[in-house]
Amino acid sequence: MTKRRARITGWGKYVPAKVLTNDDLAAMVDTSDEWITARTGIKERHVRTENDTTTSMAVQASLDALHVAGLNPEDLHLIIVANSSPDYLLPAPANFVQHALGASCPAFTIAAGCSGWVYALATAQQFIATGVYQNILVVGVEIISYALDYTDRTTCILFGDAAAAVIVQPSLDGEGVLAFELGSDGSQAHHLWVPGGGTVNPVSQKVVDQREHYIRMNGQEVFKFAVRKLTTCLRNITAQAGLTLDDLDLIIPHQANLRIIEAAAKHLDLSMDKFFINLHKYGNTSAASIPLALVEAIEEGRIHPGDTVGMVAFGSGLSWAGAVLKMGMPVASVLTHNGHARANA
Ligand code: ACO
Repeated sequence: MTKRRARITGWGKYVPAKVLTNDDLAAMVDTSDEWITARTGIKERHVRTENDTTTSMAVQASLDALHVAGLNPEDLHLIIVANSSPDYLLPAPANFVQHALGASCPAFTIAAGCSGWVYALATAQQFIATGVYQNILVVGVEIISYALDYTDRTTCILFGDAAAAVIVQPSLDGEGVLAFELGSDGSQAHHLWVPGGGTVNPVSQKVVDQREHYIRMNGQEVFKFAVRKLTTCLRNITAQAGLTLDDLDLIIPHQANLRIIEAAAKHLDLSMDKFFINLHKYGNTSAASIPLALVEAIEEGRIHPGDTVGMVAFGSGLSWAGAVLKMGMPVASVLTHNGHARANA
């Protein structure tokens, strides 16, 4: 029987207008453009303005994705939002996004750090494969800057805010999600976490005084984990799809640190040309990182109809998630209202 796969038919992104450069950060903490560029590859990142909320950013990206797919919000059967920086602790962001879009479908949120959007895509694939839903919005959005300690130079230089979204719909033509791998190693949770503000260590004067409501990270441990997972997950998902690494037209790695990607490319004996990079402009946008890179790769003509794309994310958990995607064949090339080329069927 032909397998029903989740194929990407629409895409959109939203990036806040405010830019924080390495020099801006050097005026705030003891760092420099040279250090950040050499150790991470990041030159600048965007951070939310006072008008941006997790919901508003997700909605902007989603409206573009709906437009490219030729759908209206009421056509949606499901909304999945990958996010770890909600507007409110309760309810989760997906409900606010559903209401703001004017959709009437079910909506839920996946919190799996930077791996969240690939987890969400794999979840959408299940609903498509079983025939339960046809039109699914999959969003990755983060205002990670709210959880950054701008006195801690080891974390505040790495992250930025963004949103990106895709529409997936069923395909019987061998296009869409060909394979995926999801993973978790909770034994390493403490390497990247926010120690205060939850039920174990609720918000208190002590939590605020000790800055425990901000992200704490053991950068070197996360770095080693990231290189290992980028390498093994990419091998696993291509094998699962019946492909080799050479069959991939483009690889979209989580945009955390250029050195992590370079180390993985070396282990895999792959040219860096095969990897899409936009982290110099945005830093690590957590759950928005992979979809933002995917959208920009499409917009920049780095992904063509019929191409096979490998994506791997890693992050807090520690978690990882990868997927192989075959892009749809073209029927038309139309421009959307904001200039996005539509290159899918
Ligand atoms: N500017 C200047 N110096 C710095 C800075 C900075 N911003 N940050 C750290 N340093 C110093 C350190 O204090 C240390 O100084 P010392 O030798 O005097 O003690 C020195 O630089 C080297 O520090 P390292 O931690 O060894 O630097 P490293 O090369 O490992 O780079 C980094 C640090 C960039 C954090 C790296 O470890 C990394 O990228 N790790 C992965 C992080 C990551 O990807 N996290 C996100 C995961 S995704 C998610 O779900 C959120």
